[in-house]
Amino acid sequence: MQQLIDNFDRKFEYLRLSITDVCNFKCNYCLPDGYQRTHNKQFLSGQEISNLVAAFAELGTKKVRITGGEPSLRKDFAQIISAVSNTKGIRKVATTTNGFSLSANAQAWFDAGLDAVNVSVDSLDAKTFHLITGKNIFQKVMQGVNDAVKAGFKQIKINSVLMKGLNDIDIDLYIDWIKDQPIQLRFIELMQTEDNTEFFDKHHISGEWIKQNLLDKGWTQKVPLSHDGPAQIFCHPDYLGEVGLIMPYSKDFCKTCNRLRVSSTGRLHLCLFGEEGVDLRDLLASPADKEQLKTRILEALKSKKVSHYLDLGKSGGTPHLASIGG
Ligand code: 5AD
Ligand code: SF4
Repeated sequence: MQQLIDNFDRKFEYLRLSITDVCNFKCNYCLPDGYQRTHNKQFLSGQEISNLVAAFAELGTKKVRITGGEPSLRKDFAQIISAVSNTKGIRKVATTTNGFSLSANAQAWFDAGLDAVNVSVDSLDAKTFHLITGKNIFQKVMQGVNDAVKAGFKQIKINSVLMKGLNDIDIDLYIDWIKDQPIQLRFIELMQTEDNTEFFDKHHISGEWIKQNLLDKGWTQKVPLSHDGPAQIFCHPDYLGEVGLIMPYSKDFCKTCNRLRVSSTGRLHLCLFGEEGVDLRDLLASPADKEQLKTRILEALKSKKVSHYLDLGKSGGTPHLASIGG
């Protein structure tokens, strides 16, 4: 079988597929003024998504994460989950959501074939949550997390971008929370994008600080598994949950890169940062173009670079992560 392997011997079995760039939150590090439409393209249709995922699956993709913007804003979200999960070769379907409609839909998404869900919960204090996201719905999102546990999800991750002077003091609350919850907390180091430079300078906390904080509290780093990708995972004998650290500025972060991205308008992105992407759209409408589509993806992968070079102070030309699905 053909495989997605790049010039640096990294293997890509994980696709992050954005299905919309629209979001109804105003996270201060991402879309502080709310979503503004900057293009007039249609988002990928259900049929285009099916054709795309079928081609990736034939190239060895085993896991698909459906992202946005906020993916659940699409009315056909459950159908998309179902189509992706029924694609031959796809073993795992995940999504990342801001949680605003999780409570209402957790069961339906689980039943449609969703295996795992990441929920962004940027503070455990309702007021700070409102301040960061622009939405005063902390309780509703937490209810969604509980309902996801009840619906049967075995893999629930909570994303939190820790920021100086905003939610950094929540770190102990977060850790207490997972004492008896089988949840993986993911602390994500704030990334600089084109739109948030000033914000970044004010609020960025080094991932190393978070790591040291965990080590001081008796957490130990687990031996990395190949499917972890760039996350560093920590565990503690007294806690049911785990902590994952995403430290994009750490040395070697890109060495374990295992993912490719497709935007909601059908552009293949080899990295979150620093490239324009390769348009796949003309080959998505018809399943008859599958072989050509596979060839284009394989060709594009040859130009994947070794690193994002963010440590050189580059923001990489990505306006905000909602634009290509984080
Ligand atoms: N830095 C770090 N993480 C970000 N996200 C979005 N923008 C940024 C950024 N600038 C992540 C958040 C959110 C997910 C959807 O994307 O973790 O939970
Ligand atoms: Fe929306 Fe996610 Fe960006 Fe927040 S981080 S504004 S929820 S896309």
